[in-house]
Amino acid sequence: MSGLFITLEGIDGAGKSSHIDWLEQQFVQQGRQVVRTREPGGTPVAEQLRQLVLNEDMSDLSELLLVFAARDDHLKKVILPSLAAGKVVLCDRFTDSTIAYQGYGRGVSLNVIQQFKDLIQKGLEPDITFVFDIDPMIANERMAASRTHKDRFEQEALDFFNKVRHGFIKQSQTSARYCLIDSSQSMDVIRQQLWQKVVSL
Ligand code: TMP
Repeated sequence: MSGLFITLEGIDGAGKSSHIDWLEQQFVQQGRQVVRTREPGGTPVAEQLRQLVLNEDMSDLSELLLVFAARDDHLKKVILPSLAAGKVVLCDRFTDSTIAYQGYGRGVSLNVIQQFKDLIQKGLEPDITFVFDIDPMIANERMAASRTHKDRFEQEALDFFNKVRHGFIKQSQTSARYCLIDSSQSMDVIRQQLWQKVVSL
């Protein structure tokens, strides 16, 4: 059985997490081996880099370099071996987050991001990328209700999230691997859309 690489994207508070749980259950029921992971993170080194990126003040370029350093480690130690072993990799965020947050949000050159992407991914792309779309104002209300501590990104102003959201939407128009999901829909409708995309592969 061939490996399947699925990424889930969206602004903070878009509600990805509960859908990852559900997707994992679906694949396990089908007898597939699932690796559930996240970015930045997924290996001891990348998790340490995550702590820095989420909590320490740094330049936009440092932020970019650290997320790619974390991704390189994660790809080599977890993602590529899991795909080679025929597993389903469910990854909470990947390079589309870099394009949306560091590119559209922070204003780092998309060209520079593309060069790092090429260097590290060597042409590897997810098979499916679900982009959970939500109005940043609603996402902010959701986060206010559920988060006691906000990280560097979650503390950003609405304007930042509007730019990041725009980035995700633009990205989702560039390839058939994307599936843009309106997060304001009911859980059942969203699940139907997720599975429809999976079986369409
Ligand atoms: P999350 O795991 O709670 O979604 O938080 C991760 C945060 O890191 C989120 O605010 C988005 C941000 N991020 C980037 O800015 N660039 C990246 O490349 C990735 C993977 C995440």
